[in-house]
Amino acid sequence: MASPTASVAAEDGSLDTKRVVPFSVVKLAAETTALPPQFLKSEGERPTVAYNDHSSKIPLISLKGIDVKSERERIVAEIARACEEWGIFQIVDHAVPTDLMNGTMDNNSSFFELPQEEKLKYATKPGGFPAAFGYATGSHLAGDNVLDWREFMLHTSLPRSVYKSEYSFWPEKPEEYRETLIEYSEKTDLLVTSLLGLISESLGLPTDYIKNLVGGEKTEQKILFNYYPPCPQPDLTLGHRSHTDFGTITLLQQTDVGGLQAFKPETDRWVTVEPIRGAFVVNLGDQLQILSNGKYRSVKHQAVVNSNRTRSSIVTFANPSPMSHMGPIPELLNDTNPAKYTNYIFKDYLRLFRSKISGYE
Ligand code: OGA
Ligand code: NI
Repeated sequence: MASPTASVAAEDGSLDTKRVVPFSVVKLAAETTALPPQFLKSEGERPTVAYNDHSSKIPLISLKGIDVKSERERIVAEIARACEEWGIFQIVDHAVPTDLMNGTMDNNSSFFELPQEEKLKYATKPGGFPAAFGYATGSHLAGDNVLDWREFMLHTSLPRSVYKSEYSFWPEKPEEYRETLIEYSEKTDLLVTSLLGLISESLGLPTDYIKNLVGGEKTEQKILFNYYPPCPQPDLTLGHRSHTDFGTITLLQQTDVGGLQAFKPETDRWVTVEPIRGAFVVNLGDQLQILSNGKYRSVKHQAVVNSNRTRSSIVTFANPSPMSHMGPIPELLNDTNPAKYTNYIFKDYLRLFRSKISGYE
Protein backbone atom coordinates (compact mmCIF):
# COMPACT_ATOMS: atom_id res chain seq x y z
CA MET A 1 0.00 0.00 0.00
CA ALA A 2 1.31 3.44 -0.88
CA SER A 3 1.99 5.54 2.15
CA PRO A 4 0.49 9.01 2.11
CA THR A 5 3.34 10.32 4.21
CA ALA A 6 5.86 9.66 1.44
CA SER A 7 6.49 13.26 0.46
CA VAL A 8 7.60 14.48 -2.91
CA ALA A 9 11.36 14.80 -3.05
CA ALA A 10 12.63 18.31 -3.65
CA GLU A 11 15.09 18.91 -6.49
CA ASP A 12 18.10 18.44 -4.22
CA GLY A 13 16.74 15.06 -3.12
CA SER A 14 15.63 16.12 0.38
CA LEU A 15 11.99 15.92 1.39
CA ASP A 16 10.17 19.14 0.64
CA THR A 17 7.63 19.16 3.45
CA LYS A 18 6.31 22.59 2.56
CA ARG A 19 5.17 21.44 -0.83
CA VAL A 20 1.52 20.50 -0.44
CA VAL A 21 1.70 17.46 -2.71
CA PRO A 22 2.74 14.48 -0.67
CA PHE A 23 1.01 11.78 -2.75
CA SER A 24 -1.78 11.11 -5.22
CA VAL A 25 -5.28 10.49 -3.86
CA VAL A 26 -6.23 9.07 -7.26
CA LYS A 27 -3.51 6.47 -6.86
CA LEU A 28 -4.43 5.74 -3.25
CA ALA A 29 -8.07 5.26 -4.29
CA ALA A 30 -6.98 2.61 -6.76
CA GLU A 31 -4.68 0.82 -4.31
CA THR A 32 -6.20 0.88 -0.84
CA THR A 33 -9.13 -0.95 0.70
CA ALA A 34 -8.97 0.83 4.05
CA LEU A 35 -8.72 4.51 4.79
CA PRO A 36 -5.11 5.49 5.50
CA PRO A 37 -4.97 6.94 9.04
CA GLN A 38 -3.91 10.40 7.86
CA PHE A 39 -7.45 10.91 6.51
CA LEU A 40 -9.27 9.83 9.65
CA LYS A 41 -11.40 12.73 10.90
CA SER A 42 -12.37 13.11 14.53
CA GLU A 43 -15.83 11.83 15.41
CA GLY A 44 -17.38 15.28 15.53
CA GLU A 45 -16.17 16.10 12.03
CA ARG A 46 -17.29 12.94 10.23
CA PRO A 47 -20.25 13.01 7.84
CA THR A 48 -23.69 12.61 9.37
CA VAL A 49 -25.68 12.74 6.13
CA ALA A 50 -24.91 10.70 2.98
CA TYR A 51 -23.68 12.18 -0.30
CA ASN A 52 -26.88 11.14 -2.08
CA ASP A 53 -29.38 12.04 0.63
CA HIS A 54 -30.39 15.20 -1.23
CA SER A 55 -32.65 17.88 0.06
CA SER A 56 -34.83 20.05 -2.12
CA LYS A 57 -35.03 22.64 0.68
CA ILE A 58 -32.11 24.70 -0.60
CA PRO A 59 -33.69 27.41 -2.78
CA LEU A 60 -33.58 26.99 -6.57
CA ILE A 61 -33.90 30.28 -8.41
CA SER A 62 -34.47 30.79 -12.13
CA LEU A 63 -32.82 33.92 -13.54
CA LYS A 64 -35.15 33.86 -16.53
CA GLY A 65 -36.43 37.34 -17.30
CA ILE A 66 -33.68 39.04 -15.31
CA ASP A 67 -34.00 42.16 -17.51
CA VAL A 68 -37.79 42.32 -17.31
CA LYS A 69 -38.87 44.53 -14.41
CA SER A 70 -41.56 42.31 -12.90
CA GLU A 71 -39.43 39.17 -13.21
CA ARG A 72 -36.43 40.94 -11.76
CA GLU A 73 -38.47 41.87 -8.72
CA ARG A 74 -39.36 38.20 -8.23
CA ILE A 75 -35.71 37.18 -8.57
CA VAL A 76 -34.50 39.86 -6.16
CA ALA A 77 -37.12 38.83 -3.58
CA GLU A 78 -36.14 35.16 -3.90
CA ILE A 79 -32.47 36.02 -3.55
CA ALA A 80 -33.10 38.16 -0.45
CA ARG A 81 -34.85 35.25 1.20
CA ALA A 82 -32.26 32.68 0.19
CA CYS A 83 -29.37 34.86 1.42
CA GLU A 84 -31.10 35.48 4.73
CA GLU A 85 -32.34 31.98 5.45
CA TRP A 86 -29.60 29.88 3.89
CA GLY A 87 -26.60 31.77 2.51
CA ILE A 88 -26.70 29.23 -0.31
CA PHE A 89 -28.98 28.66 -3.31
CA GLN A 90 -28.90 27.24 -6.81
CA ILE A 91 -29.48 29.15 -10.02
CA VAL A 92 -30.66 28.00 -13.42
CA ASP A 93 -31.39 29.93 -16.64
CA HIS A 94 -28.17 31.89 -16.24
CA ALA A 95 -26.05 33.05 -19.19
CA VAL A 96 -23.07 30.67 -18.91
CA PRO A 97 -23.30 28.29 -21.90
CA THR A 98 -23.86 24.62 -21.06
CA ASP A 99 -21.21 23.52 -23.56
CA LEU A 100 -18.63 25.70 -21.84
CA MET A 101 -19.58 24.27 -18.43
CA ASN A 102 -19.34 20.72 -19.74
CA GLY A 103 -16.06 21.36 -21.57
CA THR A 104 -14.47 22.87 -18.48
CA MET A 105 -15.63 19.93 -16.37
CA ASP A 106 -14.16 17.49 -18.93
CA ASN A 107 -10.81 19.29 -18.68
CA ASN A 108 -10.99 19.05 -14.92
CA SER A 109 -11.39 15.24 -15.00
CA SER A 110 -8.82 14.78 -17.77
CA PHE A 111 -6.21 16.70 -15.83
CA PHE A 112 -6.54 14.65 -12.65
CA GLU A 113 -6.42 11.40 -14.60
CA LEU A 114 -2.99 12.33 -16.03
CA PRO A 115 0.03 10.46 -14.64
CA GLN A 116 1.25 11.91 -11.36
CA GLU A 117 4.55 13.07 -12.97
CA GLU A 118 2.57 15.27 -15.36
CA LYS A 119 0.43 16.75 -12.57
CA LEU A 120 3.50 17.41 -10.43
CA LYS A 121 4.74 19.87 -13.04
CA TYR A 122 2.07 22.18 -11.64
CA ALA A 123 2.64 21.44 -7.95
CA THR A 124 1.88 24.23 -5.49
CA LYS A 125 5.05 25.96 -4.43
CA PRO A 126 6.00 26.59 -0.80
CA GLY A 127 3.95 29.40 0.69
CA GLY A 128 0.77 27.59 -0.09
CA PHE A 129 -2.88 28.47 -0.18
CA PRO A 130 -4.52 30.88 -0.73
CA ALA A 131 -2.04 33.02 -2.65
CA ALA A 132 -0.56 30.16 -4.58
CA PHE A 133 -1.51 28.72 -7.88
CA GLY A 134 -1.18 25.06 -8.58
CA TYR A 135 -1.85 21.42 -7.94
CA ALA A 136 -2.08 20.00 -4.43
CA THR A 137 -3.55 17.01 -2.67
CA GLY A 138 -5.04 16.26 0.72
CA SER A 139 -4.84 19.74 2.18
CA HIS A 140 -4.48 23.39 1.24
CA LEU A 141 -2.26 23.89 4.27
CA ALA A 142 1.40 22.92 4.38
CA GLY A 143 2.13 20.54 7.23
CA ASP A 144 -1.53 19.69 7.91
CA ASN A 145 -1.77 16.37 9.71
CA VAL A 146 -5.39 15.39 9.02
CA LEU A 147 -5.97 15.29 5.30
CA ASP A 148 -8.98 15.65 3.01
CA TRP A 149 -9.78 13.02 0.39
CA ARG A 150 -9.24 15.29 -2.60
CA GLU A 151 -6.86 16.57 -5.23
CA PHE A 152 -7.17 20.10 -6.52
CA MET A 153 -5.81 22.67 -8.89
CA LEU A 154 -6.09 26.37 -8.15
CA HIS A 155 -5.90 29.12 -10.78
CA THR A 156 -5.81 32.83 -10.09
CA SER A 157 -7.61 34.19 -13.12
CA LEU A 158 -8.72 37.82 -12.66
CA PRO A 159 -7.99 40.67 -12.95
CA ARG A 160 -6.44 39.58 -16.20
CA SER A 161 -4.12 42.58 -16.30
CA VAL A 162 -2.52 41.37 -13.06
CA TYR A 163 -2.54 37.60 -13.54
CA LYS A 164 -2.20 37.09 -17.29
CA SER A 165 1.42 36.05 -16.86
CA GLU A 166 0.20 33.13 -14.70
CA TYR A 167 -1.93 31.75 -17.52
CA SER A 168 1.18 30.41 -19.21
CA PHE A 169 1.70 28.13 -16.18
CA TRP A 170 -1.72 26.57 -16.51
CA PRO A 171 -1.71 22.98 -17.77
CA GLU A 172 -1.05 22.42 -21.45
CA LYS A 173 -2.81 19.09 -21.34
CA PRO A 174 -5.55 18.52 -22.25
CA GLU A 175 -4.98 20.79 -25.22
CA GLU A 176 -8.02 23.03 -24.84
CA TYR A 177 -7.52 23.50 -21.09
CA ARG A 178 -6.26 27.10 -21.12
CA GLU A 179 -8.51 28.49 -23.80
CA THR A 180 -11.62 26.97 -22.23
CA LEU A 181 -10.67 28.21 -18.79
CA ILE A 182 -10.16 31.78 -20.01
CA GLU A 183 -13.63 31.76 -21.52
CA TYR A 184 -15.07 30.18 -18.37
CA SER A 185 -13.39 32.88 -16.30
CA GLU A 186 -14.95 35.65 -18.40
CA LYS A 187 -18.44 34.18 -18.41
CA THR A 188 -18.49 33.36 -14.70
CA ASP A 189 -17.21 36.87 -13.96
CA LEU A 190 -20.19 38.33 -15.80
CA LEU A 191 -22.49 36.06 -13.82
CA VAL A 192 -20.86 37.12 -10.54
CA THR A 193 -21.34 40.79 -11.46
CA SER A 194 -24.95 40.14 -12.28
CA LEU A 195 -25.52 38.29 -8.99
CA LEU A 196 -23.78 41.01 -6.96
CA GLY A 197 -26.19 43.43 -8.69
CA LEU A 198 -29.20 41.39 -7.62
CA ILE A 199 -27.83 41.08 -4.10
CA SER A 200 -27.23 44.86 -3.91
CA GLU A 201 -30.81 45.48 -5.00
CA SER A 202 -32.04 42.94 -2.45
CA LEU A 203 -30.45 45.12 0.25
CA GLY A 204 -32.14 48.23 -1.16
CA LEU A 205 -28.91 49.52 -2.74
CA PRO A 206 -28.10 50.63 -6.30
CA THR A 207 -27.30 47.69 -8.60
CA ASP A 208 -23.56 48.35 -8.92
CA TYR A 209 -23.05 49.21 -5.24
CA ILE A 210 -21.35 46.03 -3.99
CA LYS A 211 -19.32 45.41 -7.15
CA ASN A 212 -17.90 48.94 -6.91
CA LEU A 213 -17.27 48.65 -3.20
CA VAL A 214 -15.24 45.44 -3.64
CA GLY A 215 -13.02 46.93 -6.32
CA GLY A 216 -15.01 47.12 -9.59
CA GLU A 217 -12.72 45.96 -12.40
CA LYS A 218 -10.01 45.18 -9.86
CA THR A 219 -11.98 42.40 -8.10
CA GLU A 220 -10.12 39.12 -7.97
CA GLN A 221 -11.24 35.75 -9.23
CA LYS A 222 -9.85 32.31 -8.45
CA ILE A 223 -11.01 29.14 -10.15
CA LEU A 224 -10.52 25.88 -8.29
CA PHE A 225 -10.83 22.42 -9.81
CA ASN A 226 -11.64 19.83 -7.14
CA TYR A 227 -11.39 16.08 -7.72
CA TYR A 228 -12.68 13.56 -5.21
CA PRO A 229 -11.88 9.93 -6.11
CA PRO A 230 -13.96 7.08 -4.66
CA CYS A 231 -13.04 6.51 -1.02
CA PRO A 232 -12.84 3.09 0.67
CA GLN A 233 -14.40 4.37 3.92
CA PRO A 234 -16.29 7.56 3.15
CA ASP A 235 -17.98 7.66 6.56
CA LEU A 236 -14.67 8.28 8.31
CA THR A 237 -13.40 11.24 6.32
CA LEU A 238 -14.39 14.23 4.20
CA GLY A 239 -13.53 15.30 0.68
CA HIS A 240 -13.39 18.89 1.82
CA ARG A 241 -13.46 19.90 5.46
CA SER A 242 -16.12 22.21 6.87
CA HIS A 243 -15.42 25.90 6.18
CA THR A 244 -16.84 29.15 4.98
CA ASP A 245 -15.50 30.86 1.87
CA PHE A 246 -13.81 34.14 2.67
CA GLY A 247 -14.78 36.18 -0.40
CA THR A 248 -18.02 37.77 -1.56
CA ILE A 249 -19.79 35.00 -3.43
CA THR A 250 -18.76 31.61 -4.79
CA LEU A 251 -20.15 29.77 -7.81
CA LEU A 252 -19.92 25.99 -7.72
CA GLN A 253 -20.52 23.63 -10.60
CA GLN A 254 -20.75 19.93 -9.76
CA THR A 255 -21.29 16.72 -11.67
CA ASP A 256 -24.31 14.49 -11.05
CA VAL A 257 -22.44 12.80 -8.19
CA GLY A 258 -23.46 14.94 -5.23
CA GLY A 259 -21.47 15.57 -2.09
CA LEU A 260 -21.69 19.28 -1.31
CA GLN A 261 -23.38 19.89 2.03
CA ALA A 262 -24.45 23.09 3.75
CA PHE A 263 -24.94 23.49 7.48
CA LYS A 264 -28.24 24.80 8.78
CA PRO A 265 -27.67 26.11 12.32
CA GLU A 266 -31.41 26.31 13.11
CA THR A 267 -31.79 22.55 12.76
CA ASP A 268 -28.18 21.74 13.63
CA ARG A 269 -28.03 19.56 10.52
CA TRP A 270 -26.05 19.16 7.33
CA VAL A 271 -28.09 19.31 4.14
CA THR A 272 -26.88 17.70 0.89
CA VAL A 273 -27.25 19.96 -2.15
CA GLU A 274 -29.06 18.20 -4.98
CA PRO A 275 -26.95 18.07 -8.15
CA ILE A 276 -28.92 19.80 -10.91
CA ARG A 277 -27.63 19.64 -14.47
CA GLY A 278 -26.60 23.05 -15.78
CA ALA A 279 -27.09 24.78 -12.43
CA PHE A 280 -24.60 26.75 -10.39
CA VAL A 281 -24.65 26.58 -6.63
CA VAL A 282 -24.12 30.09 -5.25
CA ASN A 283 -22.90 30.52 -1.71
CA LEU A 284 -22.16 33.65 0.21
CA GLY A 285 -18.75 34.20 1.72
CA ASP A 286 -17.59 36.04 4.83
CA GLN A 287 -17.38 39.42 3.09
CA LEU A 288 -21.07 39.47 2.25
CA GLN A 289 -22.02 38.54 5.79
CA ILE A 290 -19.97 41.50 7.00
CA LEU A 291 -21.11 43.96 4.30
CA SER A 292 -24.73 43.12 5.12
CA ASN A 293 -24.00 43.52 8.84
CA GLY A 294 -24.97 39.93 9.49
CA LYS A 295 -28.32 40.06 7.65
CA TYR A 296 -27.02 37.59 5.08
CA ARG A 297 -25.03 34.57 6.10
CA SER A 298 -21.72 33.14 5.07
CA VAL A 299 -22.75 29.51 4.97
CA LYS A 300 -20.67 26.75 6.50
CA HIS A 301 -20.23 23.96 3.96
CA GLN A 302 -18.24 20.79 3.29
CA ALA A 303 -17.97 18.00 0.72
CA VAL A 304 -18.50 14.34 1.54
CA VAL A 305 -17.19 11.48 -0.61
CA ASN A 306 -18.54 8.05 -1.53
CA SER A 307 -17.15 4.62 -2.30
CA ASN A 308 -18.47 4.24 -5.86
CA ARG A 309 -17.89 7.24 -8.04
CA THR A 310 -15.42 10.04 -8.54
CA ARG A 311 -16.88 13.47 -8.01
CA SER A 312 -15.61 16.72 -9.50
CA SER A 313 -16.47 20.32 -8.89
CA ILE A 314 -15.39 23.66 -10.30
CA VAL A 315 -15.44 26.52 -7.85
CA THR A 316 -15.26 30.17 -8.88
CA PHE A 317 -14.35 32.46 -6.00
CA ALA A 318 -15.05 36.17 -6.24
CA ASN A 319 -12.86 38.18 -3.88
CA PRO A 320 -12.57 41.91 -3.25
CA SER A 321 -9.49 43.67 -4.56
CA PRO A 322 -6.81 43.64 -1.85
CA MET A 323 -7.13 47.38 -1.17
CA SER A 324 -10.94 47.45 -0.84
CA HIS A 325 -12.31 49.14 2.26
CA MET A 326 -14.59 46.62 3.89
CA GLY A 327 -17.06 46.67 6.79
CA PRO A 328 -20.82 46.93 7.26
CA ILE A 329 -22.37 49.08 4.50
CA PRO A 330 -23.17 52.47 6.14
CA GLU A 331 -26.54 52.81 4.35
CA LEU A 332 -27.75 49.67 6.14
CA LEU A 333 -26.90 50.90 9.63
CA ASN A 334 -29.07 52.88 12.05
CA ASP A 335 -29.83 53.10 15.79
CA THR A 336 -31.60 49.77 15.81
CA ASN A 337 -29.00 48.15 13.53
CA PRO A 338 -25.58 49.24 14.80
CA ALA A 339 -22.41 47.88 13.17
CA LYS A 340 -21.57 44.34 14.27
CA TYR A 341 -18.15 44.33 12.58
CA THR A 342 -15.32 46.82 12.37
CA ASN A 343 -13.97 48.35 9.17
CA TYR A 344 -10.79 46.98 7.59
CA ILE A 345 -8.83 46.74 4.37
CA PHE A 346 -9.45 43.42 2.63
CA LYS A 347 -5.78 42.45 2.40
CA ASP A 348 -5.63 42.51 6.21
CA TYR A 349 -8.66 40.26 6.50
CA LEU A 350 -7.04 36.94 5.73
CA ARG A 351 -4.14 37.58 8.01
CA LEU A 352 -6.07 38.96 10.98
CA PHE A 353 -9.50 37.37 10.90
CA ARG A 354 -9.64 34.45 8.59
CA SER A 355 -8.49 31.73 10.92
CA LYS A 356 -11.13 32.71 13.46
CA ILE A 357 -14.09 33.28 11.19
CA SER A 358 -13.70 30.80 8.39
CA GLY A 359 -13.01 27.62 10.29
CA TYR A 360 -9.73 27.10 8.41
CA GLU A 361 -7.68 26.87 11.55
C1 OGA B 1 -14.60 24.92 -2.01
C2 OGA B 1 -15.75 24.04 -1.69
C3 OGA B 1 -16.99 22.04 -2.17
C4 OGA B 1 -17.17 21.04 -3.27
O1 OGA B 1 -13.82 24.54 -2.89
O2 OGA B 1 -14.48 25.98 -1.36
O3 OGA B 1 -16.49 24.35 -0.80
O4 OGA B 1 -18.26 20.49 -3.33
N1 OGA B 1 -15.92 22.93 -2.43
O5 OGA B 1 -16.24 20.82 -4.04
NI1 NI C 1 -16.05 26.39 -0.10
